[in-house]
Amino acid sequence: MKKPGFFNAFADVWMLDGVRTPMVDYCGALGHISPTDLGIKAARAALSRAAVPGEHIGSVVTGNMAPGDFDQFFLPRHIGLYAGVPLEVPAIMAQRICGTGFELFRQAGEHIQGGQCDAALVVGTESMTRNPIAAFDHRTGFKLGAPVGFKDYMWEALKDPAAGINMIQTAENLAKKYSISREDVDQFASDSFAKAVAAQQAGFHAGEIVPVITEKFEVEGYKPRGIRLQGKATEVAQDTHARISPTEVLAKLKPVYEGGVQTGGNSAALVDAAAAAVVASGAYVRDHAKAQGKKPLARLVASAAVGVPPEIMGIGPAPAIRLLLERAGLTLDQIGCFEINEAQGAQTLAVGRELGLDLAKLNVNGGAIALGHPLAATGVRLTITLARHMQLKGIRYGISSACVGGGQGIALLLENPDGV
Ligand SMILES: CC(C)(COP(=O)(O)OP(=O)(O)OC[C@H]1O[C@@H](n2cnc3c(N)ncnc32)[C@H](O)[C@@H]1OP(=O)(O)O)[C@@H](O)C(=O)NCCC(=O)NCCS
Repeated sequence: MKKPGFFNAFADVWMLDGVRTPMVDYCGALGHISPTDLGIKAARAALSRAAVPGEHIGSVVTGNMAPGDFDQFFLPRHIGLYAGVPLEVPAIMAQRICGTGFELFRQAGEHIQGGQCDAALVVGTESMTRNPIAAFDHRTGFKLGAPVGFKDYMWEALKDPAAGINMIQTAENLAKKYSISREDVDQFASDSFAKAVAAQQAGFHAGEIVPVITEKFEVEGYKPRGIRLQGKATEVAQDTHARISPTEVLAKLKPVYEGGVQTGGNSAALVDAAAAAVVASGAYVRDHAKAQGKKPLARLVASAAVGVPPEIMGIGPAPAIRLLLERAGLTLDQIGCFEINEAQGAQTLAVGRELGLDLAKLNVNGGAIALGHPLAATGVRLTITLARHMQLKGIRYGISSACVGGGQGIALLLENPDGV
């Protein structure tokens, strides 16, 4: 019997370029835009930045968790179609909840390595705002006086019915297991906010953001669709959640569960966003991309995915990163930087303690506590951020990773061949 867990090594697969929309607090300026349109926007921008024409794409790999419009079934197909990918090219939607974005790279890597295509379009998109208020048993009717059953899909979806607990409670379990105090979590959160604000001021995040504007997406022979900003806004260009948050301020916030360590200030912010990247074979990079004067962002070296107990789902990155390193033949100290999704502060600290991670290498441009966690977009965003940071600082190896509700972990290993 093989040991459980997925490991994929990619010999010659590259991320050419990647881009994202701003991450905007839910119910804000992107709240009325469907995840399909946000995804089309990011996909078009990624192709343009990578200087890859849509006709060169042979696979469209998308992710989206919450249905944000009635056409969600068509999301992968419509993102490909309106991004200019030929009609003959297949499109898929994958889901590994908060690990979805990483899974998209894994699948794109398999498609390229397996010789199915030269280049793939990877798009993760999420409207937390447009999580529906839903009921599932109305088609068959309901009795007079019975509860009508409408619930907030987002709040309900953050609860794992197998373990009978909310995602915040899984972080509380880790806080107890690893003796993580409220002060530890608030300090970690305060640092995340400070790093995000510093990176914003230095222009780092702007480098991966495509501003969202009012525009039409047209494809010959099909109905136009598009984005219309509301009110007087002409463009939305900035992340909105990050702000300097001293520990004294965070310490005053009420915990989500009485006696717990997690609050609205030290948990991932709920935001709307999409992120997209172009992944291609080495041959494509050498022939086409070089001719366009394009240098890839990073090599996709390997991926690993594992399962962990649902009640401590947040520990997932630790065994995923261990498997990744063991099978890739590297050690933790050879990795120059990490982007690990901050689903909850205690969760990320638990991963750090479990691995013995040097926190100075972790989420150096701020994490999801400060910037937000648009579920299916997160893995794409973190991997783009990681690759850009590796290039900026001349770092050879980096890992992006996330925990996954229900109990999983997933991680990607990137290489910058010019780095040390
Ligand atoms: C923790 C959570 C339940 C909080 O939701 P919420 O109550 O809507 O959070 P809010 O943003 O309203 O924050 C609560 C309060 O803290 C305040 N706050 C949040 N961040 C702050 C900061 N950095 N500085 C100061 N105050 C802050 C808010 O202003 C708000 O104050 P108010 O109650 O006076 O309005 C929600 O963010 C969550 O579930 N996050 C994690 C999602 C998750 O687990 N995803 C991964 C799935 S595995």
